[in-house]
Amino acid sequence: MPEAIEINGLTKYYGALCAVNDVSLVVHEGDFIAFLGPNGAGKTTTIHSITGLCNFQKGSIRVFGSDVIGDYRKTRRLIGLCPQEFNFDPFLSIEGLLVYQGGYFGVPKAEALKRARELLARFKLLDKKDGDFRKLSGGMKRRLLLCRALMHDPKILILDEPTAGADLELKHHLWDFLRELNRAGKTIFLTTHYMEEAELLSKTVAIIDKGKIIHCGDKETLLKNENLEKRYLELIREND
Ligand SMILES: Nc1ncnc2c1ncn2[C@@H]1O[C@H](COP(=O)(O)OP(=O)(O)O)[C@@H](O)[C@H]1O
Ligand SMILES: [Mg+2]
Repeated sequence: MPEAIEINGLTKYYGALCAVNDVSLVVHEGDFIAFLGPNGAGKTTTIHSITGLCNFQKGSIRVFGSDVIGDYRKTRRLIGLCPQEFNFDPFLSIEGLLVYQGGYFGVPKAEALKRARELLARFKLLDKKDGDFRKLSGGMKRRLLLCRALMHDPKILILDEPTAGADLELKHHLWDFLRELNRAGKTIFLTTHYMEEAELLSKTVAIIDKGKIIHCGDKETLLKNENLEKRYLELIREND
């Protein structure tokens, strides 16, 4: 059985800057992996390499056994991507942009419309379906990104910092939904810089820093790691 994602020696430069440095990582089907790392570590670049949004100089990536460059259409169809930035088409209504997204992946219009409404209802956005996404709050836009990523019912869901800047209620709503999707069999690849989020949700944790994987393994083993015995409490003074 091929692995959901298999990254081998991925290396990506932006000019002279090595953003991802010889990264190898395997994600098993059905896993919930947290890809954890500080800002600038190379998380988004790795995701863009998996989903064909950027090129890379060395290495290879396979999604369910198919090469992401040689078999781009096939591998891209297996993935739903929830990007870090909002990148909606401003000329479409909220429902329209979901139906359009379905179209990119060959979902017939009637089915896409049905699915769009189900997802909008699930994320409490149905009453906004005819509106303009620019009028949505930040949290609503995040939910809409997730609806869009799920339109073609992908086997893998990749989320790039979906809870950055989200309030607690939205976080809990998203977390519950991600757990539910994972239980239903979807492979989830979540990037975050919150250890708490990784601890709460994932089965596997990969930590990336300065473009290199510095740890990868199952979460329970990581939490038992004696080297991590020291726990830090960071206090930030308001007004600072
Ligand atoms: N389009 C780009 N052009 C030049 N440098 C980039 C570009 N995108 C990202 N970088 C750089 O690559 C490194 C990794 O960035 P990124 O993958 O976005 O990190 P993360 O998602 O972990 O915050 C950073 O040093 C960032 O400044
Ligand atoms: Mg990023």
